[in-house]
Amino acid sequence: MHPLISERWSPRALDPAAKITDAQLESLFEAARWAASSGNTQPARWLVGRRGDASFQQIFDALRPGNQSWAGAASALLVGCVVTEDETGRTLPMPDYALGLSAQNLVLQAVAEGLVAHQMGGFSREAVATSFGLPATAQAVVAIAVGTLGAPSLLPEDLAARETAPRVRKPLSELVFTENWGSAAF
Ligand SMILES: Cc1cc2nc3c(=O)[nH]c(=O)nc-3n(C[C@H](O)[C@H](O)[C@H](O)COP(=O)(O)O)c2cc1C
Repeated sequence: MHPLISERWSPRALDPAAKITDAQLESLFEAARWAASSGNTQPARWLVGRRGDASFQQIFDALRPGNQSWAGAASALLVGCVVTEDETGRTLPMPDYALGLSAQNLVLQAVAEGLVAHQMGGFSREAVATSFGLPATAQAVVAIAVGTLGAPSLLPEDLAARETAPRVRKPLSELVFTENWGSAAF
């Protein structure tokens, strides 16, 4: 596996003093913007706040308490959104899929920059829609904390234990089939 992929993980222990440079942040969104999308419709949109600014606080305030317990130390908080129609009212095809590809590009670019990125579904989409003034044709889908890895001792005890637990995945035999569903290809 490519090191960019094997080195990606979702830490919660972030260095509360670390800053992200404008060049690093721009490189994340460049990577995100070059993702594939159906018919090149590019439905992914991003909201960004740097720690200490108003947008960071708006995103932080929308996070569920469990995520607020660690994500305040992020250097930047992002929200990935989709637009569901174009300017003519045409429904865009598979926008969530496109945002997922865009988010994975962004996360891998963060790894390439020596940063870490942790995706979160645990936040209020409505709070983000209200505080950022999203139009009816846009929806917030995923929040992402981007920062610099810190020591697990920065975390509350329960989260510190999860931080150092081994990462696991289902074996390929349960995931990849040939001839018939359930017939392992590997
Ligand atoms: C769509 C999505 C939503 C997630 N939501 C949360 C979340 O709200 N809080 C959290 O701490 N981690 C969240 N995660 C991180 C996952 O728990 C993590 O990716 C998974 O356990 C696999 O671990 P790894 O990313 O280190 O490989 C989310 C990840 C994804 C892709």
